[in-house]
Amino acid sequence: MVEAARAFADRMAARRTIRDFRPDPVPMEVIEEAVRVAGTAPSGAHVQPWRFVVLTDPERKRQLRAAAEVEEREFYARRASPEWLAALAPLGLDWRKPFLEVAPVVIVVFEVHQGPHSPRPYYVKESVGIAVGMLITALHQAGLATLTHTPSPMRFLNEVCGRPREERPYVVMPVGYPAPDATVPDLTRKPLSEILIRD
Ligand SMILES: Cc1cc2nc3c(=O)[nH]c(=O)nc-3n(C[C@H](O)[C@H](O)[C@H](O)COP(=O)(O)O)c2cc1C
Repeated sequence: MVEAARAFADRMAARRTIRDFRPDPVPMEVIEEAVRVAGTAPSGAHVQPWRFVVLTDPERKRQLRAAAEVEEREFYARRASPEWLAALAPLGLDWRKPFLEVAPVVIVVFEVHQGPHSPRPYYVKESVGIAVGMLITALHQAGLATLTHTPSPMRFLNEVCGRPREERPYVVMPVGYPAPDATVPDLTRKPLSEILIRD
């Protein structure tokens, strides 16, 4: 058991957020199985308040990128505080979001709030966050790279994805294989001794 846990932790430690993708298609069955994993997440009162919209159509992805870049230009030029921009600087991010078009799959995750067919949901953000963590884990385990992308604001995603107002965008996740020349920021993670407190 310990060996398996260690091997899994090592595998997860190798996950990195990828921002440059190859356009090559990925097996749709893998995406479906990963969403199935996400759908096993625990949720407050078992309301399962999530929706996963899988975009692969090039025209849809082009629209997504165009709409996102309108918001991102505004964000970088005016909306972001100097502190926020300073925190993003080491990651080398800017308003351009080519990955929304280049990645073969983009999964847009929505929180499902009260609607005609759902009971009142509890702990929606917590539940969807756990489901997204499981989605990232499942995709990584299958050998696919992901980017956790949070445009600000996100409401334009309802229109791009054709989803009703009671669904609120949570995250946009391009999925695919890393581009051959993809690089990642030189980050370190907090050691176990810092994040784990024992009695
Ligand atoms: C809630 C959340 C929002 C994020 N938003 C963005 C984003 O909008 N754009 C981006 O390039 N990366 C985004 N990231 C990725 C983080 O920058 C990345 O996870 C972090 O730098 C650590 O790198 P790693 O995932 O390679 O370990 C986000 C991550 C999280 C968890």
